[in-house]
Amino acid sequence: MKKDNFEIKTNQVENFIFNEFQIKGTATKLPGEIDLNFRIKTDTNDGFIFKIFHPKDALSRIDFLDKLLSHIENYRSDLVIPRIIPNLKKTPFLSVTDEKGTARNVLLISWIPGRLWSAVNPKLENLYFSLGMKAGSLTKALQGFRHSMAEIDSVWDISESLWTKGFLHFFSGEQKEILSYFQQLFEASESSYEKLRKSIVHSDANDNNILVGTEKIDPKVTSIIDFGDACHTQIINDIAIACAYAIMDKNDPLQATIPLLKGYHSKFALQEKELEHLYVAIAMRLVISVTKSAMNKNDAPDNKYLLISEKPAWELLKKWRNVSKEFALYSFRNACGFNAHPDEIKFKNWASTTNFDFSDIFPNVSNNAIQLLDLSVSSTWIGHQEEFNDLDFFEFKIKKLQKSHPKKIIAGGYLEPRPIYTSEFFDSVGNSGRESRTIHLGVDFWLPKETPVHTLFDGEIVTSINQTGDKQYGGLLILKHEIEDFNFYTLYGHLSVQSVINTKVGTKIKKGQKIGTLGKQNENGNWVPHLHFQVMLSLLNFTDDFPGVTFYHQLEVWKSLCPDPNLLFKNESLNPKKSVSNTEILSFRKEHLGKSLSLQYENPLKIVRGLDAYLLDENGKKYLDTVNNVAHVGHENFAVVKAGQQQMALLNTNTRYLHENINELAKELLETLPPQLNVLHFVNSGSEANELAIRMVQAVTGEKDMIASEVGYHGNSTMCIAISSYKFDGKGGKGAPEHTHIFPLPDVFRGKYRGQNTGKNYAFEVQKQIDNIHKKNRKVGGFIIEPIISCGGQIELPEGFLPKAYELVRAVGGLCISDEVQTGCGRMGKVFWGFQLHNVVPDIVTIGKPLGNGHPIGAVACTQEVAEKFANGMEYFNTFGGNPVSCAIGAEVLKTVKREKLQENALKIGDFLKEELKKLRSEFPIIGDVRGQGLFLGIELVDGKMNPLAAQTDYIANRMKDHGILMSTDGPDHNVLKIKPPIVFSKSNAKELIFYLRMIFAEDFMTI
Ligand SMILES: Cc1ncc(COP(=O)(O)O)c(C=O)c1O
Repeated sequence: MKKDNFEIKTNQVENFIFNEFQIKGTATKLPGEIDLNFRIKTDTNDGFIFKIFHPKDALSRIDFLDKLLSHIENYRSDLVIPRIIPNLKKTPFLSVTDEKGTARNVLLISWIPGRLWSAVNPKLENLYFSLGMKAGSLTKALQGFRHSMAEIDSVWDISESLWTKGFLHFFSGEQKEILSYFQQLFEASESSYEKLRKSIVHSDANDNNILVGTEKIDPKVTSIIDFGDACHTQIINDIAIACAYAIMDKNDPLQATIPLLKGYHSKFALQEKELEHLYVAIAMRLVISVTKSAMNKNDAPDNKYLLISEKPAWELLKKWRNVSKEFALYSFRNACGFNAHPDEIKFKNWASTTNFDFSDIFPNVSNNAIQLLDLSVSSTWIGHQEEFNDLDFFEFKIKKLQKSHPKKIIAGGYLEPRPIYTSEFFDSVGNSGRESRTIHLGVDFWLPKETPVHTLFDGEIVTSINQTGDKQYGGLLILKHEIEDFNFYTLYGHLSVQSVINTKVGTKIKKGQKIGTLGKQNENGNWVPHLHFQVMLSLLNFTDDFPGVTFYHQLEVWKSLCPDPNLLFKNESLNPKKSVSNTEILSFRKEHLGKSLSLQYENPLKIVRGLDAYLLDENGKKYLDTVNNVAHVGHENFAVVKAGQQQMALLNTNTRYLHENINELAKELLETLPPQLNVLHFVNSGSEANELAIRMVQAVTGEKDMIASEVGYHGNSTMCIAISSYKFDGKGGKGAPEHTHIFPLPDVFRGKYRGQNTGKNYAFEVQKQIDNIHKKNRKVGGFIIEPIISCGGQIELPEGFLPKAYELVRAVGGLCISDEVQTGCGRMGKVFWGFQLHNVVPDIVTIGKPLGNGHPIGAVACTQEVAEKFANGMEYFNTFGGNPVSCAIGAEVLKTVKREKLQENALKIGDFLKEELKKLRSEFPIIGDVRGQGLFLGIELVDGKMNPLAAQTDYIANRMKDHGILMSTDGPDHNVLKIKPPIVFSKSNAKELIFYLRMIFAEDFMTI
């Protein structure tokens, strides 16, 4: 059916509606393929849709719609659907006439408020689930409803989709191949498809027919509208159509179907045999769509819009072609609560009746006991990445383990999340950021090279491959076993080349027969000899390989497809160790650890490993870390780790003995400091550094009064809290103590004085505090500030402020402290220490976090004069400060910064990031300010009236976490996103950060 040229003006529509329905409203035309639709807005309710039907539409179509809507309404009053509005004449429908005198049948139906699915951003799993629920409820409501109109063939009906074969000639190359691939699949399964349950279903849950609530966070689908395509067909087609549209533009379309399917199944239970057709049904809806587009293009070759509109369908078809039909089925089954693999239970039942020993598979090995080897991401045995990448060292450790357990087989690894698959080969970008294949699907047996391997059951060789080439995995054999009414497979990886070289596919093997021997290291990418033994219930589409590891998000499906090999051996010692659940950790923590400890994120992360700019959780998920400035030269920097480990093995004691490490660290530090600051004291934390600095002030000046900035934070000890407005002016605080004098946050963006040239105004505020102290007949002790105020929200000090403030303080005998706990050690890029940005030399510099790269160490640098006055006879003793281990670590951190040119990196990447962030600011007005130096940046979010936007800032940090990027928020109004990553942060890390920030800043919650 094609659109005819019936024309009617909006005012005619308005008059008609007033005359026939006594409804006053304004009409606007809506887009539509065949019918003419007008939206009618009124003052009193949500409004209406005025539908003018195509002349070829028999009255029965209107009757169909009428009966269908009443059926749903009678069945389920909680489903929001349009209602037909009765006219004054009380007739089922009316006719309207255009200027040419042609008459058309019309209906007025209620307008359902809401946003279109296509306008919602982001579309998260909950939204998909709610769409599935609505679609399922609708299908359920329509059960038992019949109408003759629903039997009429429709080109959009998937059950009729083979008509598209007649138009294959419109396509060529890859497109043609894809279409005929799916058409053939559909044709091949048509006979069982024909037998599936049928009913009248909506059949058109596309982007423009789905309405979503207006909530900006966690909205739900409120209604599915437009029943124009409802038809009597296989029920599975309905969810297939919803999937086909909803998963377009997703990196991983299969994953995107899962919540949708779960939602649907929760309301309308799908059958296992229906799921078998879902993959192809989704494809066929897309095949119809692109064929229709090609036909339209053929009719209107110049219509560029047609080209654009078909693009997402083609992209999805291409991706869908690469999704294994079988794996999709297992995923669908898992989503609907069936065993992902239909034979899982059969295998488990059968396996429970078997009784194998390890000597059945390794008859030459006399030991039958197992020593479990933990190679999981949190294993301390595998240690640092550099260590497990060193295969010689790994071999040494394995051999030692074998030696210390001579009566045991070293084995383990089923479903273990391993950090060892770190190459990009194992990574991909899913629907929410980076994903790594970390979950190991087999069991590894670490045995000497050439250990003979025998089969446990009769079988036939289906794969025999020499993988010593590119992948360096040695020989691989896969055997097929036929057991009663099902088959399964066993996989033997890392065999010798000899094991596969003469072993032909098709060879029958008898239970207990030798099939090969373990490969040598040089056949196996230098890996220590071991057998990777895996059980599979299917080979999927694999012919000469099979995955041995998988993504965490697919774990449930793979677990069913590759059951635990230990089901055959039933050896307790081979079962992976149970890890403590996050809930248990949390509840212990709540009960027994300090109540004022806080946790990041609503669902706190369990981080078990660090690596450069990344943190890894217990499942091996990698998070890009923009928060932890403490891991200055990269999480678990190997040189630093080694320096600490080595010294720890020799000696750790206090500073009352001579040791070179303390001098070594002192020399490294002095090299970076101005010559005036040439005396050092070592402590254990930033707080201790500031505590000591305050004591120095008191010792040198004899005064207690300190001047500090509003929202400054300087540590957790009593004296540090007393100068930290961030704490005493915050929750639980009691305001400034008597001897603390706070001046306003020198924030040129939203502070007391704004814009350029405000340095002197803020310096004047410092003078006011000096005057205050004098008014109390006391004198100034010291002045403390960070060069960029971190907790204040990455506040850069205005130009000229610091020199002037120092001048004023010193003029009255006070000392100046620069708190470099966050800003020091090269992070600023341009300079090594933050105060150097302002051309001043403090009297005391306090150093903390970055100096130990995670190890607790701090330092205080001061002038000779300060040091001498502080040494008034009382010994400064610090049990741990300056110990040889901490000093080895500190010295190595500083050497690493210098050797790896990390200060230069902070400058280069920091400048790049800042420029990119400024571009974001010009795209998203919600970003009020971008500021900072080097890799110490801040993004402040405000509305048009400069009001802080804390909820939006928090939203960004949480959404970034969903995409595997950690960010922190701060500032007195909690509206600043902070970026202060390890300074090994690379350009590609920066690009990834910007990519996801841009994506999330575009989300609905960010529009104000
Ligand atoms: C600027 C500043 N000074 C001092 C400290 C205290 O350091 P620590 O936590 O190592 O005691 C911190 C900690 O966050 C800080 O940010």
